[in-house]
Amino acid sequence: MSEEFRRLLSLPGVGEATAERLREAGYETVESVAVASVDEICEAVEIGKMQARRIIEAARKAAEIEDFVTADKVLEKRKNVGWITTGSSQLDSLFGGGVQTQAVTEVFGEFGSGKTQLAHQLSVNVQLPEEEGGLNGKAIFVDTENTFRPRRIISMAKARGLDPSEALRNIFVARARTTDRQLLIAEKAQEVVEKENVRLLVFDTLTSLFRAEFIGRETLAARQQKLARHLLTLHRIADLYNVAVFVTNQVQARPDLFFGDATRPIGGHVLGHSATTRIYFRKSRGNKRIARVVDSPELPEGESVFVITEEGIRD
Ligand code: GTP
Ligand code: MG
Repeated sequence: MSEEFRRLLSLPGVGEATAERLREAGYETVESVAVASVDEICEAVEIGKMQARRIIEAARKAAEIEDFVTADKVLEKRKNVGWITTGSSQLDSLFGGGVQTQAVTEVFGEFGSGKTQLAHQLSVNVQLPEEEGGLNGKAIFVDTENTFRPRRIISMAKARGLDPSEALRNIFVARARTTDRQLLIAEKAQEVVEKENVRLLVFDTLTSLFRAEFIGRETLAARQQKLARHLLTLHRIADLYNVAVFVTNQVQARPDLFFGDATRPIGGHVLGHSATTRIYFRKSRGNKRIARVVDSPELPEGESVFVITEEGIRD
């Protein structure tokens, strides 16, 4: 019996038959039940609304989703928010002072737009002292496309006056090859975060394996559900440990659109509403790139230009 299944079974009102039906309907974890609607659970398990509501409430408790807190506590917690510089002051202002802790930041854009470069740069910059735009911390880099380059870390670290070997030792790299693995790594990341002074968690590219594994319209619901569950874990880590979660996302061409950007981030709405801050990258001339804020609750809409140089991301 899997750990997840055991957790489902431990919910009051969930017996073996119910747990089995939940699992068959795609609710494999307590978290997925916690974010489900009453109607969805009713339909999945063929039980009454009352019982479904009870199960969801129990799942929410078990998933340790926070209850209401007073606003002064929120303010208290926000005081601990830290920022990691991107290397470009213009880009930093666009991000609201850099990439924030206690938040999930998503950068999406076409190939070669600089998403992986920024992921490398942040893994270096998080190690800088606070007065230089860092958090004196370590990074976890989850690589789903085999594009992590230690050599690039070395050049970027040297350019910021860091000891390159030490910079490499401060980055924990994990290679994810399947979405199952990716979700597991996220859970494991929590353990590393607890032990080490990790202040940045990178997923580059968050959605590529989901895109590869879930093909065709009929798999869309399952994909979104799994992605939502994954993001719940990431938000929890960001929140609980005051970590900056930075994820990258590709765009899919939309041949059905004639106006505006003929591109759309993979993951659609789930990711759209789940990321705290979303920035869209596009290529410009040469090594120039343009970044734009997309529907952020805190940041004003705007654009900024940055360059990718030998030394890394710069104004
Ligand atoms: P996909 O992952 O394919 O979607 O693209 P991406 O957005 O991750 O692009 P990435 O960050 O890999 O950007 C690639 C660009 O960064 C290249 O086109 C180069 O212009 C630049 N670049 C990458 N490595 C170096 C380097 O070592 N030196 C310099 N000067 N530029 C680099
Ligand atoms: Mg990339």
